[in-house]
Amino acid sequence: MSGPLCPAPAAPPCRAGLGRPRTAWRLRVRTALLLMGMLALLPAGPGRLSTPQAHASATHEPKPPAPLDWDARERALIRSLGPWPAAALSLEERQAVNPLAGRPQAIVLGQSLFSDPRLSGNGQVSCASCHEPARRFTDGRPTSIGLADLERNTPSLNDLAGQRWFGWDGGSDSLWAASIRPLLDAREMGGSAQRVDEVLRADTAYRQAAQALKPFIARPADASEQEHSLVLAAMALGAWMETLQSPRTPFDVFRDALLSEQQSGGALAGLAASPLSAAAQRGLRLFLGKGNCSLCHGGPAFTHGEFHDIGIAFLLPARWPGQAPRVDPGRYRGIERVLSDRYNQAGPWSPDPQGARARLLRQTLLQHRNWGEWKIPSLRQLRHSAPYMHAGSHASLREVIRHYSALNEERLHLDGEALLKPLNLSAREEDDLLAFLDSLSSP
Ligand code: HEC
Ligand code: HEC
Repeated sequence: MSGPLCPAPAAPPCRAGLGRPRTAWRLRVRTALLLMGMLALLPAGPGRLSTPQAHASATHEPKPPAPLDWDARERALIRSLGPWPAAALSLEERQAVNPLAGRPQAIVLGQSLFSDPRLSGNGQVSCASCHEPARRFTDGRPTSIGLADLERNTPSLNDLAGQRWFGWDGGSDSLWAASIRPLLDAREMGGSAQRVDEVLRADTAYRQAAQALKPFIARPADASEQEHSLVLAAMALGAWMETLQSPRTPFDVFRDALLSEQQSGGALAGLAASPLSAAAQRGLRLFLGKGNCSLCHGGPAFTHGEFHDIGIAFLLPARWPGQAPRVDPGRYRGIERVLSDRYNQAGPWSPDPQGARARLLRQTLLQHRNWGEWKIPSLRQLRHSAPYMHAGSHASLREVIRHYSALNEERLHLDGEALLKPLNLSAREEDDLLAFLDSLSSP
C-alpha cells in the first residue's frame, strides 16, 4: 500500500503550515541574543542561514550551545520523534502476526539459526553473512552477494518490530515471511524446506526447541512436516529479530530534555548537560521545516514505513557491455510479490487470516504509481550503514543530502512531485543537516 502519506496513528500532522508566529517576547529574546553576538544560534528562516555573516560566526560557537527557541509546531514535531525506545505493540498483537513472538525459547533458537550456514544450499551462507551483527546487520556493500549477486542493498535489521512491510519493495508483510524468502531464494541461501527440517533434527538443542514450539503453529491440512519446520525456523528468526532495537542517541537525550524543560517551566539544566551542537539544532529545524523531511521520515523510528519515489534511478546498471536495459520496479513488484505469497498474513500459515494485517493486505491495490517507489528507511544509526538507498547508489550522507538539494524533478512521478522540491541548500545548511543526521547515531 502506498496510499496515505502519514498513516501511523502517532504521526505528526501532515503538511502543517510552516509559518512561525513572531511574538514581541520572541523578538526581545532575539535582540538580546543578537547583542551577545550569537547570530549563528538564532532561529532562522531559510534565508538567514545562508548569509555569509552567519557562516563566519559558526566557528565561534560556545559550548555547550544554547537551545534554539522552538515554537509550538516544532516542539510538537520533536515530541513525535520519540520516545526512544519506542512503545512496543502488545504481546497479543505481536502473536497475531507471529505465534512465536515473545517466547524465550523461540528467541534463542532464532538467534542461533541466524548465524547457521547449514541452512543454505551449499552449507556456507547464513543470514549473518549479509546482515553482519558487527555492522548493525548490514554488509557495507552497495548491493549484496549471496550465492549470486543481488540488485539491492542489505538493510539493517534494527527497529523493525511493529513495521508492516519488509524489504525495500515491501514484498513481505511479516518478519517471518521476510525470512523465508532468503532461505529459499537461489541467489541468497538456496535452501529448502527439506534442508531446514534436516538441520532442526540434526542438532539436539534445535530438536528440543522445535518439538516444544511446533504446537504453537497450526499446520494447514495441505502442508508437509518439512514445511512446518521451515515456517517454525522463520517464525523463530522473526521472534528474535523483533528484539533488535538500536540504542538511544544524542538526539533522544536532547528531545527528552527539551520536553521536560518545557514541563518544568523553562529550567535549562537538563539541556545544558546534554545538548545537540548548534549546527545539529539548526539541522533539526531544517529537517522539520524547509526540508520537509519529517513528512516521510517521521515518528520515533524516523520512518512512517510507507513507500515513495524520491527520484532515485531504478534502471539497473548493465552487468556487461551491451546488456539490454533492466529495471527494478520497486513497490510495484513488491505488491505483486506480497499478494501472491503463500506466507502472507492472509495465507494458510497466518495465525490470524481474518485479522487487521490480513485486511490491510486485501485492501492493497496495484497502481501504476507504485513503479519506482521504495520503502522509506529509518534514519537511525546511519553512521554505521553506508552506502545508502535501495541499491547503495549513495556512498555518503553528504551525497544523500545533495540528492535532495539538487533534486531532479523530472525523475519524480506526479505524487512525489507535490511533496519534494529541490532544496537548493547552502554549504552551511548541508553541514547543519549532516550534523543533525549524525545526532541520530550512537557511537
Ligand atoms: C545474500 C545476502 C542476504 C542474506 C543471506 C540474507 N539477507 Fe536479508 N536482506 C538482504 C537484502 C538485499 C534485503 C533487501 C531485500 C529486498 O529489498 O527485497 C534483505 C532484507 C531483509 C529483511 C527486510 C528488512 C527491512 O528493512 O524491511 C529481513 C527481515 C531480512 N532480510 C532477514 C533475513 C534473514 C532472517 C535471513 C536469513 C534467513 C536473511 N535476511 C538472509 C540480503 C540478505
Ligand atoms: C516523499 C518522502 C520523503 C521525503 C520528504 C524525504 N525522504 Fe528521505 N527517503 C525516502 C525514501 C523513499 C528513501 C529510499 C529511496 C531509495 O532507496 O531509493 C529515502 C532515503 C533517505 C536516506 C537514505 C537512508 C538509507 O538507509 O539508505 C536518507 C539519509 C534520507 N532519505 C534523508 C532524508 C532527508 C534529510 C530529507 C529531507 C531533506 C528526506 N530524506 C526527505 C523518502 C523521503
